[in-house]
Amino acid sequence: MELIDSFNRKHDYLRISLTDRCNYNCVYCNPNHRTVGGKGRENLLSFEEIERLIELFAAKLNFKKVRFTGGEPLVRKDVFNFFSRVGILKQKYGLKIGLTTNGSLIYGRVNELKLKGVDNLNISIDSLKPDKFKWITGKDDLPRLLKVIDEAEKAGFNPVKLNVVVIKGINDNEILDFVERFKDRNINVRFIEFMPFGSNEWERNGFLSFREIKEIVERKFALAPLITGENAVAKDFKILGSPGRVSFISSISEHFCSTCNRVRISADGTFRVCLFSRGEQEVNFKELFRSGASDREIIEALRKAILTKWEKHPGAETLSKQIQNNMMEIGG
Ligand code: GTP
Ligand code: 5AD
Repeated sequence: MELIDSFNRKHDYLRISLTDRCNYNCVYCNPNHRTVGGKGRENLLSFEEIERLIELFAAKLNFKKVRFTGGEPLVRKDVFNFFSRVGILKQKYGLKIGLTTNGSLIYGRVNELKLKGVDNLNISIDSLKPDKFKWITGKDDLPRLLKVIDEAEKAGFNPVKLNVVVIKGINDNEILDFVERFKDRNINVRFIEFMPFGSNEWERNGFLSFREIKEIVERKFALAPLITGENAVAKDFKILGSPGRVSFISSISEHFCSTCNRVRISADGTFRVCLFSRGEQEVNFKELFRSGASDREIIEALRKAILTKWEKHPGAETLSKQIQNNMMEIGG
């Protein structure tokens, strides 16, 4: 059985937010320190419940890929033990496992993640200047993060993906530095268009489109398009004359909704059919599990919910006014 929406999109990629807490307060994500304390552990799905979920999506709905996000997923207690158990499910169902992290809590432990079965590691890094990094995140962690990136490359993540959210006047003057620094390594710098969430302070004049970012890269580097997977969010380019590649994620200027294969579960167990959906008519797994719902009932609820998925999300100005959307809860 498969999870198919009214526009015939088949879903096989599950993104699970493990917590709405984060140890960073990035200016573009959590400027008002809104969810620092999080909703409290009793409001989160337990690890056992998340395992049940993964098993249900893999066994009954043919899902192929799971990615863990946050907040910062690694602030959750005992998460490494949880990854060991996820590793068992991965083997059983042939899943690909991904993790998106700020990298602050894995210094000296990156190889362990690989050994536990994490296949794809995406690390957020928005500046290569220590002072700027601290200003953006609130933490003086850049030197250690660069070591974590080295560790990740050595551990064999292929490639290590670096997420750089580009904001005009904040880090757009570092675009070429990012390419220069990583172009000869197995590290894929990905420039991400700044997206509006109710919880951030998105403004059109802070926005740089992927075309503008690409133009800056091309002032110094020649790029050739690469063929990307049919459900990929990034447009990938080979850097001519270097082994590396650079990518652009154009959520706002050129959305990729028509090939979307993703569904999400926020930290409190809400099923979300889109990054930007508002939580209406959506299924809450915590309530379903705790009221004793059977797998069949849950699948029925999911099949109903997926039919509410819109063809595409609204434009930036509309999204920026939807205060219900909080990146910290849904994890990107
Ligand atoms: P893989 O494709 O599994 O490598 O992961 P990814 O690149 O989708 O995941 P990651 O968590 O690193 O997200 C990178 C950026 O893409 C973040 O800014 C996300 O918010 C954004 N993103 C991820 N999924 C979606 C989506 O479905 N829609 C939109 N608009 N943006 C997304
Ligand atoms: N726009 C684009 N990307 C964002 N991220 C967080 N907030 C935003 C935003 N407003 C990125 C993080 C992380 C990924 C999960 O989403 O940098 O890499």
